Amino acid sequence: MKYIPYGRQLIDYKDKQLVLSSLSNDLITTGPLVEKFERDLRKYFNCKYSYVCSSGTAAIHLAMLSIGLKKNDIILMPAINFIASYNMAKIIGLKVFLVDVDEFTGQITSEKILECIKKNKLKKINALLTMFHGGYPENIKKFHEIKKKYKFLIIEDACHALGSEYRYKNNFFKIGSCQHSDISTFSLHPLKTITTGEGGVVTTNDAKVANNIRLFRSHGISRKKNKHWEYDILKYGFNYRLSDINCALGLSQLKKINNFLRKRKKIYQKYLKEFKNFNSNILVPIYCKNIKFSYHLFLLNIAFNKLNKNKDHFMKYLKSHGIMAQQHYIPIYKFSVFKRKSARFPGTEKYFNNSVSLPIFVNLSNINQDKIIKIIKDYFK
Ligand SMILES: Cc1ncc(COP(=O)(O)O)c(C=O)c1O
Repeated sequence: MKYIPYGRQLIDYKDKQLVLSSLSNDLITTGPLVEKFERDLRKYFNCKYSYVCSSGTAAIHLAMLSIGLKKNDIILMPAINFIASYNMAKIIGLKVFLVDVDEFTGQITSEKILECIKKNKLKKINALLTMFHGGYPENIKKFHEIKKKYKFLIIEDACHALGSEYRYKNNFFKIGSCQHSDISTFSLHPLKTITTGEGGVVTTNDAKVANNIRLFRSHGISRKKNKHWEYDILKYGFNYRLSDINCALGLSQLKKINNFLRKRKKIYQKYLKEFKNFNSNILVPIYCKNIKFSYHLFLLNIAFNKLNKNKDHFMKYLKSHGIMAQQHYIPIYKFSVFKRKSARFPGTEKYFNNSVSLPIFVNLSNINQDKIIKIIKDYFK
C-alpha cells in the first residue's frame, strides 16, 4: 500500500538545477551562497541579523548560548514541543520548568506561565522559550508584557512558524523579525515550510548576540582581517555550519515560499470546512483571526472518551487505510529522561489525549485529501 505521509517536501526542477550548479563553485561551504541566503532571509524576516546553521536543533543550541544562558539558569518552556529545545537546555545544564498548555491549541498562554511561576515559587527567570505549535503565533503581546515584568529573555522555537505573521497593536510582524522577542530559531528540515535538506536559521537584532552566534557556529574562531593565516579562539564552539550546497536549495525554495504557503492554506481551509461542524465532539482549534500562518499542522481535537473511542485504535485505523497521521507531540514529562515525575499538567494531558495531526503538505493532492476526509468521517459515523 502507498501511504500518505503527514508531511513531505516539494523539490522541483529549478531546485535541482541550482543545487547542481552550486557543486561547480570554487567554494561549496562557507562560500557566497551562504551569504546570499542569509541576506535574503534577513530581508524576508525584516531583522538585522540572520544566520544559517546545520539544523533547527543547532539553531536552538546556538540561540541559548548566544544570549548568554549558562548552567543553573532558569528557563520556562512548553510541555508540548519537539524534544530539541528540552535536550539543548539540559545539555547546557539549565534548570527547566515545563509550562502546561492550552487543552485545544497545545500552546502555552500567559495564564499558564504565571501559574508555573507561582507553583514553582520562581523569583528570577532567565528565559522563556515559546513555540508556535503548528505555526500559529498566539499570545505574543501577552508574552512580551510578562517579559517586561519579569525581565527575562524570550527565545522563539519558531521551527513550525517560518512564514507566519502576528499582529501587535495595529501592525503586522513576521515571526523572525524579533520585534517582541530576543532571538528566533527555525528548522529547514524537509517537513518544514521550506527546506535545505537539513538546516536551521537563527535571527536577532542584537549585535553582540549576533557576534556570539557567528563564533559558536564555527569553533569560536575569530580571524584577523588581512592575515588569513592568523586566528584566535574566543569561545568553545561547534561546527554547526551549513554548506553552500544546502544554501543553493534554500535560495531556490525561499523564492517559492509564498506559493507554498498559499497551497498549505488551501488544504488547511478545506479540512476546516469539512470538520468545523461535523461532530460536536470533534473540534478544530480556533486561533486569532486575520493572521497569515505557515499552516504547518492541521490539528483535530477529538474527545475520544465522549465518543467511546480510543486514540490508538483511531491511529491504527488510519494507518490500515494508508494514512500516516501523527501526534504532535508526546509531552516532554512522559519521556524517561524527565526526572520530576510528580509534575502535573492537566491542559497538556487533555491536549495529548485528544489531539491528532492530519497530513498537510504542498503536494497533497485533492484526491488524497478527499480520501483522508472520507475515511475519518466514516470512522465517526
Ligand atoms: C518545534 C520544533 N523544534 C525543533 C525542531 C528541531 O529541528 P531540526 O529537526 O531541524 O533539528 C523541530 C523539528 O522537527 C521542531 O518541530
